[in-house]
Amino acid sequence: MSVLQINSSARLKGSNTRILSQYLVEALGQPVVSRDLAQQPLPPISAADLIDVHGSAEHSGSSFQQQLALSNQLINELKEADTLVLGAPMYNFAIPATLKQWIDAICRAGVSFKYTEQGPVGLLGVQGAYIITATGGTPIGSEMDFCSRYLEHICRFIGIKDITHIDASGSKGSAEQVIAQGKQQIDELLSGSSSVTLPGTA
Ligand SMILES: Cc1cc2nc3c(=O)[nH]c(=O)nc-3n(C[C@H](O)[C@H](O)[C@H](O)COP(=O)(O)O)c2cc1C
Repeated sequence: MSVLQINSSARLKGSNTRILSQYLVEALGQPVVSRDLAQQPLPPISAADLIDVHGSAEHSGSSFQQQLALSNQLINELKEADTLVLGAPMYNFAIPATLKQWIDAICRAGVSFKYTEQGPVGLLGVQGAYIITATGGTPIGSEMDFCSRYLEHICRFIGIKDITHIDASGSKGSAEQVIAQGKQQIDELLSGSSSVTLPGTA
């Protein structure tokens, strides 16, 4: 059993997603591989390399080889994990650009998912995902939330069936309260006394 923890908040201190994702992985008590997309952002990818990494791979330049190797490494980190912990601050109603770049690298047809007549099927072995979404005020699960809903969609797309949301909304108010409520959600989830779903979702 191991956990892949992805942090993406640009705030290195006082970040609600960072504090809660750390609290969660410590509570899970399993070996953790951490990737920090703010402190170690993925290198920019050229238009040609993006197409080639997701295409026929006829291109063979060195930057392409580096991007392909990085994509393979990120996918392997997922393959080796049972549980994914995503810390996602809402930026302009969506996810940070650094997290989108990670998603573009890990979603590869024939590698992390495949298309079938019944629709896309995930090819990774990750069992569960915790999506920790922090906002200033936008309610999680609202029509304006293109962050947690999108991340849930991507997790399902790559085959993760068991998805749990941690609501860290409302940092415009009291950060202490957001953290306390987030920790309470995690405690209740891990003790089996609660199951959190987004409003309006199954
Ligand atoms: C560039 C940027 C855009 C933001 N956009 C939104 C937004 O659309 N809705 C919202 O409620 N909060 C927004 N916020 C506030 C953050 O979501 C909030 O501060 C959250 O706590 C950040 O996560 P963190 O505490 O892990 O850093 C934005 C913050 C930044 C820096």
